[in-house]
Amino acid sequence: MRIAGLSLVLGALLASASPHKPTRHTCQTARNCPEGTILVSKTDPSAHFKNVQDAIASLPNDNTTQTILILPGTYKEQVNVTRSGPITLLGQTDHPQDATKNRVTLTWAQANHDNTGQAVDNVFSSVLTVAPTLEASYTGSGPTGYPVPEGTPFGNVNFRAYNIDFTNTWRDYSAGPAHAISLSRANGGFYYCGFYSYQDTVYVGKLGNGYFHKSIIAGQTDFLYGFGTAWIQSSQILLRNCGGGITAWKGTNTTFTNNYGVYIVDSTVQAANASIAPEIRGKCALGRPWNELHRSVFAHTSEDASILPSGYIDWIISGAGRRNKNTVMAEYRASGPGFNATGRRAANVTIVMDDKQYARYNSPAKVFQYPDGRLGNIRWIDDKP
Ligand SMILES: *[C@@H]1O[C@H](CO)[C@@H](O)[C@H](O)[C@H]1NC(C)=O
Ligand SMILES: *[C@@H]1O[C@H](CO)[C@@H](O)[C@H](O)[C@H]1NC(C)=O
Ligand SMILES: *[C@@H]1O[C@H](CO)[C@@H](O)[C@H](O)[C@H]1NC(C)=O
Ligand SMILES: *[C@@H]1O[C@H](CO)[C@@H](O)[C@H](O)[C@H]1NC(C)=O
Ligand SMILES: *[C@@H]1O[C@H](CO)[C@@H](O)[C@H](O)[C@H]1NC(C)=O
Ligand SMILES: *[C@@H]1O[C@H](CO)[C@@H](O)[C@H](O)[C@H]1NC(C)=O
Repeated sequence: MRIAGLSLVLGALLASASPHKPTRHTCQTARNCPEGTILVSKTDPSAHFKNVQDAIASLPNDNTTQTILILPGTYKEQVNVTRSGPITLLGQTDHPQDATKNRVTLTWAQANHDNTGQAVDNVFSSVLTVAPTLEASYTGSGPTGYPVPEGTPFGNVNFRAYNIDFTNTWRDYSAGPAHAISLSRANGGFYYCGFYSYQDTVYVGKLGNGYFHKSIIAGQTDFLYGFGTAWIQSSQILLRNCGGGITAWKGTNTTFTNNYGVYIVDSTVQAANASIAPEIRGKCALGRPWNELHRSVFAHTSEDASILPSGYIDWIISGAGRRNKNTVMAEYRASGPGFNATGRRAANVTIVMDDKQYARYNSPAKVFQYPDGRLGNIRWIDDKP
């Protein structure tokens, strides 16, 4: 008895001397965070900063890993990350594995023109931008987009966001590009996040690698677009209306074989709510080619009845379609009422891949490349979020 009692006391002493190492979950749910975590809140007196951009600007320009915990609230600001060292943004939540219960929102309302109506690059509409320089973040125009200067450095090597909603509230319909995020020349992982706007919501630009896990992406027109590589895992794609396509990718010729494109895997595509569903039934396109090197694949993804019988559509400019034999607008083992096998075959726009065709793309390690073309650039991905 006495010995057992003694060991109980010792055990308790040891436990209090070495508390559990803080994890992402303990930081988000109980504010038990890694040492040096920066706190952002509009109202909490213990916070270091009242907005996220000031916290980002305070980070040392080195390679240390930095964590920022954002307390619940709506932060009306644009956030711009040029730092290359790892950064983790955490939204405080009681449900760190559920994007529908997020309590932190970063929001902005802008499209691609300034307040005099003058057109500006799409990046200026973005709620969050992750890119090393302004030029690296430009979308530009034409078949190859903005010519980013040779020698532009790579930006963030490991940017992460958990349980944060990014909303661009410019209009509640398509009225010009309105980015929720813009990621170029950087690696970015987004876990249990929400991305909401109507047009060009998520932009993954040149040499951008974006991994999205159990997140929600809601839009109307071309709302997954870019030049880089995006892998969307176990997420919800919500159609707020139809316009253009869900995906609008612009591929790039490289001296090595590239797998730039957007891969939507083990996910769902559905009307945003029950009132919009009957209006868009059979009308929304999976995607359209922003140039002929467009590549997008919906794999193991279920589609509701909003999707057009043809699946994808061509993008016709002055009578000429952009689609050719190099275009990859594909599905692999898609399911649900939106997958109309007869309609796909009749229109002959969508490639319905077999195992052999999909094998080239069937894991993040096969599509995320280093800037020199080597495959397997996945060390920045949180594989147990
Ligand atoms: C950060 O790491 C890279 C290599 O990963 C190195 O080239 C660079 O000098 C480092 N920067 C700083 C500020 O230590
Ligand atoms: C982001 O910050 C960099 C460095 O201050 C700046 O050059 C760039 O213009 C900013 N990007 C945007 C889109 O405002
Ligand atoms: C349904 O979604 C549409 C498109 O986002 C929106 O305009 C409408 O307000 C939503 N309706 C409800 C009941 O949430
Ligand atoms: C890619 O290369 C092909 C063949 O040289 C060319 O026809 C096409 O215009 C190029 N596309 C882009 C987007 O650079
Ligand atoms: C499937 O596509 C075919 C051919 O386009 C069309 O006739 C049929 O109505 C479609 N089925 C549904 C359920 O939309
Ligand atoms: C479908 O389109 C491809 C080119 O995209 C063409 O090679 C093929 O012959 C077409 N098939 C049918 C049945 O029209």
